Amino acid sequence: MNAQELTGTAKTLVAGDKGLLAMDESNPTCNKRFARLGIPQTEEARRAYRELIVTTPGLGESISGAILYDETIRQQKNDGTPFIKVLIDAGIIPGIKVDIGAKDLAGHPGERITEGLDRLRVRLKEYFLMGARFAKWRAVIALGDGIPSRGCIEANAQALARYAALCQEGGLVPVVEPEVLMDGEHSLERCCEVTEEVLRTVFHHLYTQRVTLEGMILKPNMVLPGLTCPKQEAVDEVADATVNCLLRAVPAAVPGIAFLSGGQSGELASARLNAMNLRFKSRLPWALTFSFARAIQQPALDIWQGKEAHVLAAQQALYHRAGCNRAARRGEYNAAMDMNVTPGIPTACPPADHPLGQLQHAGPAAT
Ligand code: 13P
Repeated sequence: MNAQELTGTAKTLVAGDKGLLAMDESNPTCNKRFARLGIPQTEEARRAYRELIVTTPGLGESISGAILYDETIRQQKNDGTPFIKVLIDAGIIPGIKVDIGAKDLAGHPGERITEGLDRLRVRLKEYFLMGARFAKWRAVIALGDGIPSRGCIEANAQALARYAALCQEGGLVPVVEPEVLMDGEHSLERCCEVTEEVLRTVFHHLYTQRVTLEGMILKPNMVLPGLTCPKQEAVDEVADATVNCLLRAVPAAVPGIAFLSGGQSGELASARLNAMNLRFKSRLPWALTFSFARAIQQPALDIWQGKEAHVLAAQQALYHRAGCNRAARRGEYNAAMDMNVTPGIPTACPPADHPLGQLQHAGPAAT
């Protein structure tokens, strides 16, 4: 392991006002999202969609790194250019999801353990040789009656730490993702309590497994009330709860925290990230950024619908959502940016001379 290179990559991933784009949906998840829109669930359709994403002009203005799936990292553009090369040429660091999914945890009804440690060292070596410089592993923690159990938290935290140590050994920056799920009726306070316990446990195991904190990125959930909780706190309250929870549990040596969106709307995810940076940025030891999938991609996928004629409009929507999150890093996001573009209102849309700009200025906003 070259600690200096790892630290440099981690710093680059969270530098300035950029963030990560998660485009690492597994085939079953990608197919489910395609099916809802009537898009064929084929390898070619998944390839075409990912080509649309990686060839979006100007994507590198907001995106520092893109997380790919095993199928995607091996794919190419129609003209034969590997996606990895397209990303590197756009100034975007390629990353790879390396867990193989969450399975039922024995003896713990309703809880899951993420698998993928077997042969991971060999797989990481292959991904490194292909050009990946960071990796992701997602653990999921469900909230409910009597859960999460200590057994579930410990098992997932230990797996995350073993994955992170293997990544660093192989020269890849681990993006450590313990996700406390939004599903359920639980309160914001309950989410805060569980998130803190999970993060403390994760960092205990990262220390035990000798992971270099300066060479990793944490990808947590925001602290949120459950989706069906009757009380839904305002944006500023969510920002305060999230930052206070992280300050208690995340060591200052970690260079950056890149949130997952977890099923929040794109607008809410941006507004909440914006509030955190606006209210706390000057007082935080780590960068606060994004590593969103749905909160960046959803409008683009809805527009694309598998149709070649919609590619440009979909790319414009993707560029726009990525730009909104870039603005949120600076504390400059404004809900008006996600509404129809009105002259005089600041937007994350491309300028008129940008390859995507003509479309924007010729017609209605794509979102
Ligand atoms: P969402 O932003 O859609 O939650 O996806 C992030 C991710 O990478 C999930 O593992």
